[in-house]
Amino acid sequence: MCGIVGVTGSDNAVKILLDGLQKLEYRGYDSAGIYVNDQNGQDYLVKEKGRIADLRREVGPEVHGTTGIGHTRWATHGVVSVANAHPQVSKDDRFYLVHNGVIDNFQELKSDYLSDVPFTSQTDTEVMVQLVDKFAVEDGLNAHDAFTKALSLLKGSSYAFLLMDREDPETLYVAKNKSPLLIGVGDGFNVVCSDALAMLRETHDFLELMDGEVVTIKPDEVKIEDRDGKPVERKTFHVDMDANETDKGTYPFYMLKEIDEQPNVMRRLAQVYLSETGEPVISDKLLNSMKQADRIYIVGAGTSYHAGLVGKRLFESLTQTPTEVHVSSEFAYEQPILSKKPFFIFLSQSGETADSREVLVNVNAGGHESLTITNVQNSTLSREATYTLLLHAGPEIAVASTKAYTAQIALEAILAKALGEADNQIVAQRFDVRHQLGLVATGIQAIVDEKNKIEELAKSTFLDTPNAFYIGRGIDQNVSLEAALKLKEISYVQAEGFASGELKHGTIALIEKGTPVIGIITQEKTAGLTRSNLQETMARGAHILTIVSENLAKPGDDIVLPDVDELMTPLLSVVPTQLIAYYTSLNKGLDVDKPRNLAKSVTVE
Ligand code: AGP
Repeated sequence: MCGIVGVTGSDNAVKILLDGLQKLEYRGYDSAGIYVNDQNGQDYLVKEKGRIADLRREVGPEVHGTTGIGHTRWATHGVVSVANAHPQVSKDDRFYLVHNGVIDNFQELKSDYLSDVPFTSQTDTEVMVQLVDKFAVEDGLNAHDAFTKALSLLKGSSYAFLLMDREDPETLYVAKNKSPLLIGVGDGFNVVCSDALAMLRETHDFLELMDGEVVTIKPDEVKIEDRDGKPVERKTFHVDMDANETDKGTYPFYMLKEIDEQPNVMRRLAQVYLSETGEPVISDKLLNSMKQADRIYIVGAGTSYHAGLVGKRLFESLTQTPTEVHVSSEFAYEQPILSKKPFFIFLSQSGETADSREVLVNVNAGGHESLTITNVQNSTLSREATYTLLLHAGPEIAVASTKAYTAQIALEAILAKALGEADNQIVAQRFDVRHQLGLVATGIQAIVDEKNKIEELAKSTFLDTPNAFYIGRGIDQNVSLEAALKLKEISYVQAEGFASGELKHGTIALIEKGTPVIGIITQEKTAGLTRSNLQETMARGAHILTIVSENLAKPGDDIVLPDVDELMTPLLSVVPTQLIAYYTSLNKGLDVDKPRNLAKSVTVE
């Protein structure tokens, strides 16, 4: 989950690299570096711990070049240090390499081929650049052949490599396997990036790369070859996104901007996937494929997994099709006994999560059909599934996912209605998803308009506590998991999402005086029970808060949500919890968008 950039054929190489890394910083931000060459024998290697801003300070005005590579790191092998930052350099300072991924057999390669090499880092990446050097210098291979020979020795590795040879400084060598990498085609120059976001100010035309491909890039030429070395012809695809969409504007952090964008995301989903009369606009091919299924399997990680939990209730309520939800990293290696006619839905904001992609590889191998619901056009999970539906939520930059979660649930609701109607389910025909999404958009707006009140709640309740509990039953329990993850990942409060009826079976032992316990109450049949469970914690000293649907509210409730269909309440009840997490992190002085230890897209298993 690092960020990679490269450019060849531009006098603005340094600016393109640094600005590109800035856009990719959400992918990893513990250290960064660039290598540039001016093709007149002058080159520069600058690396720094910390953020891109720290790197920029180290890049003096003398640093210039027309070709270069850059990297922003999320450490996998080796501590956070300048020595472990990329680019990694060969022992004779000839080759420079940046890498996103993991080389599983780097230790064996080190002992089998490089026992005499003085390593300067603890990274697996350095093994690769030293291998290339060995094959070029000792075996007399050219850079391309040395690169492909080294690649052939990697076992089971996920990688996106970008290599430069000081002796041929206008050329970039690229190789990709499982980790995302795109080539941007410019006018007289070319760029390389982990995500199109990084290069939208340079070009909107990109080339996808497939696993196992190796590419040789010059300012006016891109040569792709497949894993057997055969040339591959490929057309560019156009990315419509406006480069400004990826800016914060007046917001202090992307997360608040993305929380505020949720009402419009709901409206855009209705525009894209519903007719004027509110009928779903979903391909018949997809619906027919799903209609054949006797069981739906939803697979995702983190927040996407949580959106899948709500999706299960939508599919089972509107289609009567049994639905299971699985954490992708578990499903990949502990696959349950599948039904006779399974259909798989992959939820992934980035479309690049390695854990989820591992499952899709198995699903494809099993000959099963699948749908990926994602926010990134042409992402790996999108390309490799049978079908794909885009969230159209706009770039989600903050590591903590917000609008993608609500967009995933909203699109699951539309899909469930479409499938239910295709199955002649009365309940689906009666479910007016267009009206509901309109209510949800208005409801979210009402909640975010009260953000100052929620900030006060966060400041008075969460700034000093070491832990907190969100509790609920059924669909409210599903949201409690997402609420807890948000609070944990950006404010570092040890929060748990819990089935409220389960607390008294052990975990209530953790309740002490002042422990925050937030009840989510949106379901009529369990409202009273959750209130009783809250009372049980209050009797033991807890500081309780309530997030309640209007029709179930009582005097003294802390946050009251506008009423929507009980199946759609997660789209509202999650919003105060997103804001609680945001304001707790903000008032603790933390980096809300780039929390410690994390990265936006986890492209290693
Ligand atoms: C959510 O706030 C986290 N950043 C993380 O759990 C994320 O949802 C997870 O890594 C899955 O990412 P994906 O949706 O891009 O597959």
